[in-house]
Amino acid sequence: MKKMLQDLKDSSLSAIGSAASPEALESLRVKYLGKKGELTAILKQMGKLSSEERPVIGQLANEVREHLSKALDEKREQLYAKQLESRLISEKIDVTIPGIPVKVGKKHPLSTVLDEAKEIFVSMGFSIASGPEIEYAEYNFDKLNHSAGHPARDRQDTFYFSDDDRILLRTQTSPVQIRVMENRKPPIRIISPGRVYRKDEVDATHSPMFHQIEGLVVDKGITMGDLKGTLNTIIKQLYGEDTITRFRPHHFPFTEPSCEVDVQCFECKGKGCRVCKGEGFIELLGAGMVHPKVLEVCGIDSKVYSGFAFGMGLERMTMRRFNISDLRLIFENDVRFLDQF
Ligand code: DAH
Repeated sequence: MKKMLQDLKDSSLSAIGSAASPEALESLRVKYLGKKGELTAILKQMGKLSSEERPVIGQLANEVREHLSKALDEKREQLYAKQLESRLISEKIDVTIPGIPVKVGKKHPLSTVLDEAKEIFVSMGFSIASGPEIEYAEYNFDKLNHSAGHPARDRQDTFYFSDDDRILLRTQTSPVQIRVMENRKPPIRIISPGRVYRKDEVDATHSPMFHQIEGLVVDKGITMGDLKGTLNTIIKQLYGEDTITRFRPHHFPFTEPSCEVDVQCFECKGKGCRVCKGEGFIELLGAGMVHPKVLEVCGIDSKVYSGFAFGMGLERMTMRRFNISDLRLIFENDVRFLDQF
């Protein structure tokens, strides 16, 4: 038995010495020292020994066990240290390599102009209202005094959702006027910015989706003078004190009288050039005194109250503000373009 123990010690020590991984080492521990291991197997035969031999062999067996345990512990530590070292090498970070610069975005020019406009209107006592982009034809047209045969209602011009032409993508922010007047008593002073949709082909000045800012003021004694004063103030704040405006008669179904407001061309100062297409002025917005029919539809007494309304194109304002010559640039979102602002 002495010989068996000695052999076990020699062979196990050499196996432990050449174990390549902590896992391999663990299976060696089970193989030699486990409950069903080789050392236990030898000890089970102790019963065959004489009473003189037994303590001697017992002590020897203990020594072998201690020896093996120690060898296993040492080897385990070695293997872990090696593993750690190779991980440290493979996961090494070179802190001297230049980093990848993080590109920080900027406010879109449309948002810049919208925020400026909002700030000016709010400083003049306006609050901000909103309405749905998917709208009833009733609000987009009927209640705004667009008669049944009005060309703007044509399927060629407008995106309808239903066959009965009852629901559509709003073509203007003007339906928000109706929603506000149906729900609030005068005095009313709101603007309502938002997206609108028309079946327009994309070109340098058209897009099937664009933005408007609607405005509405209703109170006792509101006149065309209030309309002119308010719009001149906002236009000068947006484009500079020396901006020259022109109010031109026009027709909108929901205002009477109606007008369009132009600003003198910044490029040629009114002489006529490529930018203003020879006109000397550039159209900026539509406006007018709210039609009495529209007030009445919303339950507002047109003998007591009057109001003015306006609608301006945000893209057009942005193009003027930043001298952008093509509307498409605004929506393409090419960062090389957007970086300029
Ligand atoms: N909704 C008109 C359009 O899209 C613009 C407009 C004109 C709005 C006159 C108004 C207004 O509120 O009074 O062409």
